[in-house]
Amino acid sequence: MVKICCIGAGYVGGPTMAVIAVKCPSIEVAVVDISVSRIQAWNSDVLPIYEPGLDEVVKQCRGKNLFFSTDVERHVAEADIVFVSVNTPTKTRGLGAGKAADLTYWESAARMIADVSKSDKIVVEKSTVPVKTAEAIERILTHNSKGIKYQILSNPEFLAEGTAIQDLFNPDRVLIGGRETSDGRKAVETLKSVYAHWVPEDKILCTNLWSAELSKLAANAFLAQRISSVNAMSALCEATGADVAQVAHAIGTDSRIGPKFLKASVGFGGSCFQKDILNLIYICECNGLAEVAGYWRQVIKVNDYQKSRFVNRVVSSMFNTVAGKKVAILGFAFKKDTGDTRETAAIDVCKGLIGDKAHLRIYDPQVSEDQIQRDLALNKFEWDHPAHLQPAAREAAKQVSVVGDAYEASKGAHAVCVMTEWEEFKGLDYGRIYEGMQKPAFVFDGRNVVDVEKLREIGFIVYSIGKPLDPWLKDMPAVA
Ligand code: NAD
Ligand code: UDX
Repeated sequence: MVKICCIGAGYVGGPTMAVIAVKCPSIEVAVVDISVSRIQAWNSDVLPIYEPGLDEVVKQCRGKNLFFSTDVERHVAEADIVFVSVNTPTKTRGLGAGKAADLTYWESAARMIADVSKSDKIVVEKSTVPVKTAEAIERILTHNSKGIKYQILSNPEFLAEGTAIQDLFNPDRVLIGGRETSDGRKAVETLKSVYAHWVPEDKILCTNLWSAELSKLAANAFLAQRISSVNAMSALCEATGADVAQVAHAIGTDSRIGPKFLKASVGFGGSCFQKDILNLIYICECNGLAEVAGYWRQVIKVNDYQKSRFVNRVVSSMFNTVAGKKVAILGFAFKKDTGDTRETAAIDVCKGLIGDKAHLRIYDPQVSEDQIQRDLALNKFEWDHPAHLQPAAREAAKQVSVVGDAYEASKGAHAVCVMTEWEEFKGLDYGRIYEGMQKPAFVFDGRNVVDVEKLREIGFIVYSIGKPLDPWLKDMPAVA
């Protein structure tokens, strides 16, 4: 029986390995992690991450050919294929701080593999890493090899949160990069045979190592760039009376552009886009490509602009101050169908409103109160380093309460801000919400989920990203 071990039981390692286990009953899969609480949760009825369809997949194979364990060394030693799916956050200090990927976790996993291995292994980069990481890992492994042979493969993951199981069952493609030697090609074939259990052969793309590593960063940069492009258009739509949804539809029907990933929003979030573009920028700079770095930096700048533009719109519409006013925040996750809040636009918007002394009542169907309070008390990039809680930010979090539903959040509020496109926000009884709010009652929709006309009929003053402005908003001072 082929044995697979995956180091890192996170958003990628857990679902990916569960799908491999369910699709390949002849393979034994162990997912290991240094976090005892995470492994305990994977072995319980309440999994550590919320992902539609994940519970069923895990239930089907856990204890049969899928195991979650903290016995990292034993499972690595026994495996034929070791996936490394540890976190690779942005560095917060030292050389390249704020841009470069922090490979501390990766390096310690590689050194551990070298320490405990007693048989030849294929080591697979599942984490998103800078180009040429495979070379660094190869060096660590071969310099400590004790005669053991390693083949390093790059097999980046393209799943999106909220649709991870669907994406894994039906991937657009699986990408495998390897050395162009006979041992390298053999290793690529071995990994290919795992995916071939359920992925059609023409969807399994094989490249050299550096192309595979770079393709992952490139894919995320291109996706994020589309969102910044449509978000830049949303600002122009508001200024001119055009409707961004109509513009996106009109351009998206051009088959060369395509309709996906053109939804204007308050800004993209998630653990990947910003981190991976910053990483790309750093790699460009290290290679003397300042103009290329500048091009990609603009994608992040527009995203930051979109978030601050939203805050400015809220404040300027409400007579230029929200001090002491109650603002309901609907949704805190970075997108629907996940409880993940890493880099969610809601953090920057809430911090902006707190900075203007607003009192926030936040509701999200999947994010815990503890998580929201922690997010609002941490500095940028520090979600992986929770030790650095700032006292000032802690103080600010006192202006925040987390409640159990949208009606409670909006009771007595001056404004409602929609931050995540949860389906339930479309079907709320906005008449009831209006009745319970202070007047004039405002809705600021950062996700284009509300029916603007209907809400205006109820009496709300409505702002929806990239839509023609309410006459009230047109009269308010210009937004930066
Ligand atoms: P995560 O933080 O959810 O999980 C990483 C896990 O690795 C953590 O549980 C951590 O405890 C564990 N870990 C760290 N060092 C370890 C070690 N030495 N030994 C054992 N366990 C260790 O991260 P994630 O979201 O799963 O992302 C993992 C990688 O995949 C990142 O490089 C990310 O960029 C990439 N990626 C993420 C997504 C996504 O949607 N989240 C999608 C594609 C790619
Ligand atoms: C992304 C990539 O899609 C995935 O391929 C990669 O493996 C990991 O990074 P993820 O961050 O989980 O996945 O979600 P995604 O659906 O890409 O959304 C990212 C952010 O962009 C979210 O905040 C989402 O709301 C926003 N978004 C997405 C928009 O604002 N408009 C869109 O049209 C699409």
